[in-house]
Order: sequence, then C-alpha cells, then structure tokens
Amino acid sequence: MNGAPAAARAPHGMVASAEPLATGIGVDVLRRGGNAVDAAVAVAFALAVTFPEAGNLGGGGFLLLRRRDGRATAIDYRETAPARATRTLYLDPGGQVIRGEGGPLVGYRASGVPGTVAGMALAWRRYGSGRFSWAQLIDPARRLALAGFPLSRARAASLRDRRDLLGRYPETRRIFLNGNGAGFREGDTLRQPDLARTLRRLQRHGPREFYEGETARALADDMARNGGLITAADLRDYRPKERPPLRGSYRGHTVLSMPPPSSGGFALLEMLNVLEGFDLRAAGPASAERYHLLAEAMRRAFADRAEYGADPDFVPVPTARLTGKRYAAGLRARIDRARATPSARRRPPAAEATQTTHFTVIDRDGDAVANTYTLNGAYGSGVVARGTGVLLNNEMDDFTAKPGVPNLFGLIQGERNAIAPKKRPLSSMTPTFVLRKDGSLWFTVGSPGGPTIINTVLQVVTNIIDHGMDLRQAIAAPRVHHQWLPDEIRTEPGARGLPDGVRRALAARGHKIAPATRPMGDAQGILIEPETGVRVGASDPRGSGLAAGY
Ligand code: GLY
Repeated sequence: MNGAPAAARAPHGMVASAEPLATGIGVDVLRRGGNAVDAAVAVAFALAVTFPEAGNLGGGGFLLLRRRDGRATAIDYRETAPARATRTLYLDPGGQVIRGEGGPLVGYRASGVPGTVAGMALAWRRYGSGRFSWAQLIDPARRLALAGFPLSRARAASLRDRRDLLGRYPETRRIFLNGNGAGFREGDTLRQPDLARTLRRLQRHGPREFYEGETARALADDMARNGGLITAADLRDYRPKERPPLRGSYRGHTVLSMPPPSSGGFALLEMLNVLEGFDLRAAGPASAERYHLLAEAMRRAFADRAEYGADPDFVPVPTARLTGKRYAAGLRARIDRARATPSARRRPPAAEATQTTHFTVIDRDGDAVANTYTLNGAYGSGVVARGTGVLLNNEMDDFTAKPGVPNLFGLIQGERNAIAPKKRPLSSMTPTFVLRKDGSLWFTVGSPGGPTIINTVLQVVTNIIDHGMDLRQAIAAPRVHHQWLPDEIRTEPGARGLPDGVRRALAARGHKIAPATRPMGDAQGILIEPETGVRVGASDPRGSGLAAGY
C-alpha cells in the first residue's frame, strides 16, 4: 500500500479501483450526476491510460450491472479468436506448444480480437444515464494520456519488472521504457500521445472507429506486417454480448456472478454450495479445519472448471447442474474432514492467467457495476499496435493450446475450451454481487489473479458471511488457493502466510503446501450499510488502488 487509505465511507456514491487517478475520475462522474455505468465507462478508459498492465482498450472483460430495482445483466466483452485461428495454432511441427514468439503468450499471434471498446459502448448506450456523452466519458483518459501523469512507485516498478517483454517491440519500448530501454522511475511522467490520438478519434467518430476506422486499419495493418492473425474483418465483426448473470445463494443470501465464458460464476457458486453444508463459523477463519474445507471445495470446482468450462455459444456448459444444491451435496458427501482427496481421483481437467484488474462502482440510486477486464498477462502480448498506443492482449493463452498441457499459470486445459474461430476463451474473472436476505444489495467484489480470482472472491464472501468481518478485513485477510492441479495449497508470503501449526495440521491431513511466492489478487469491493445507506469502499492493501466516494 503506498499510503492511500484502504477503506472509505461516503453517503452517495463510491468507486474502488486499482489506481487512484482512475478512481478519482469515476467519483467525479458520479458527483456530476452520472450513474454507475457512466462512471464505470470513464474508469475503464482511465485505467487503460494509468494502469497499462491490465487496464485496456486492446483486451476484454466482463461487466456485471445490478440496478436499484433488482434487474441485473452481464455484459460479455471477452475477446474472440480471430477467424484464421485453428485448433492447433500454437503447436510446433513436433506437436509441442510454442513458447515465446509465435505462441499464445508473446507477440502478434497471441492476441484475440479486443472487446473493451465495444463492451463499454454497449454498457453506455443501454444503461448510461444519458447525461454524459461518449466523448465526455473518454475525455479525462485522453487528457491524462496527452499530458501524462507521474508514475507512482508501484506503476514504475511494474514497468521495470516487465522490461524483458516491453523491450521486445520498438513501439512498446518507445512508449513504456522511456524510449531507451532504461525504463521509468517513480515520479517520472508517462506520456502516451499516440493513445491520446486514438482516444480522440473514438471521441470524434464513436466506438465503431476502433473496429472500422483508422484505428482498426492501423491495427490490422500492423498485424499483417508482423505475422499476426487479426484482420480488418475480425475487428469489423466483433460484437459484445449481454447474458443473464448466474444466480445462486449462500446461507440465504443471493449471489450474482458472471456466467460462461467465465468459469468464475459457476465455480464460485459450486464452492459456496459445497461449503454451505459445513459450519465454517464454528471452525474459525484461520483454522486448519476451514482451510481444509476450502481446499476440498476448490479442488472439486476447479476439476469441473477444467472439464466443463468453455464458450457457451460453442459448447453447452451445464451451469444449472454445476450450481445446483443437489450436485453440491453429492460433492460434499465425498469430502473427508480428516483427509485431503488426492486430485488424481477426480476426473481430468481444463483452465487459464493472472494480470487483470477489477473495479466497482455504486451510485447514489444504488445501481452497481462490478467490472473485471484484462490483457491477460501484465502488458498482454507486449505488442503496441503501431501508431495507436494500444497494448494488445495475449488472451489466446486462455484457450487450450493442447489438452492436458498446463498453460503459463499451471492450469490444465480441457477439450471443450479448444481454439475455434470467433470463440471466446475460458476465463476466471468473477465480478460478483451479494444481496441481503431482504433482496437489497449488500456488497460487490472482484479481483485480478487468473485462477486465484475465483478463490479470492470466495474467501471475501465467506469472510463476511461466515466470519462477520467488515469489508476491509474480509479483503485484507490471508488467502489460500487450490486449483485441483497441481495438487497443492498455495498460500501468501509474509504476515499473510499460514502459521506453522496450521501448516502442520494441513500436512497431517495429506495436503501439500506450495512455497509462498506472492500476494494473491487485488480485490476491490463496496458494501452498503443497511441502516444508513452509507457506501463503504475497500481497496486491497496488497495493491496500490483506492476506494473513494462523495
Ligand atoms: N485472462 C484471465 C482471465 O480471463 O481469467
């Protein structure tokens, strides 16, 4: 945490995001009479400038909206595979997955067709207040791109950490490594004039400009020059989709979350259903008993994610069954409270990556947005489309490059998530709303972190419902992660690690504990206090974001 407060209270509206300038832009829109969707659009464009590792125009994501009258919708603006993509696109002649240039993670061939601009346009057109034009909502981002902004310690460190990737392509090096490869330091100004011009074109000509105008031409030309797959037709044909959110319950509280092509919603609901049959409150938040049960629920849901997760427009995904109480009862019955179930006993698998960003907004009327979007890895494929300032995603790694072979994040991928033209890759993004028993909105939460996203959201939800934590405590508390394979519990380093006694007790139950490497996620949440209606926002102390309101 870089000194910013991790929680905030405000009577009218609240924004929580991973980057303080973007949060401020969202609060300003709310203060000037915008609704949650208006603010979300402004924040999304701002993060594309101020949080380039994950905020984006060149990626995609999911926006969950719940209106004060209870109606809810999910906007799916996930990237799609280019029309020329094939099932074996990333296999070399020996049948091995290509690592590096030409593969699904790095360079021009790693990108899916970006959805963010179209997704934001759909949200704004259908659900914006009408008080802000498209151009007005983009303007704060454009001005920041043009004038630049001082890099915080966290942003400068992030750019330096990814120097290898950012230095690969001259256009990217010029913008994000200060032109000379030496990189930026804290306090240096990051200016992005090409991106400012792209944003200006979007302001002047509207969102289709990104898909059919000069920006689209620049992107497609750069792809064609460098062996990329995305064509002008791919861009022209891209469409976001509205889908009904998944709806389940946990101990009497309705939970709304993202449907496929994210696995986030069904895996979250499956785990909550399994855990509902155990008295987690009695076990206690930091007990070996609780971590054991969490790991057993996670293991089972991630095995199902691997097997069933896919784009529902291509492959049926049995979400109703997987999120049913009966199905969970069957899974629960096979959990041994004294022993870990070896993952090999479960069926084979599927899955995906980690750098992503979540933000959330609640406005004065109680309309709420939870939005998670991403370039996939930090700074995506490393490619900035020439002349546009737009960093492109490496979302193609979220497809199954080869069944059974783990992707960069160790997730095993399944057959149903195989690459096909225009298909959306499986995701873990989990924007979520939890309601009070009277049906009113209680809190919103989401996080980055690839597969750990789902388990981060799970733990925040159970921390609040089972352990009575306030939002800030629930977000700050230590987290664990199990993803079926590898068969191990991941923990966090330092003070968020598990005490020795708990580790020993888990080992005695047969769990393997992986060495702790890094903090898990960067959750952002907002809770509405029932008596006062006060909006309480919390930004994860693991990150450098900000919750603020008015
Ligand atoms: N690329 C991260 C996710 O979609 O889950």
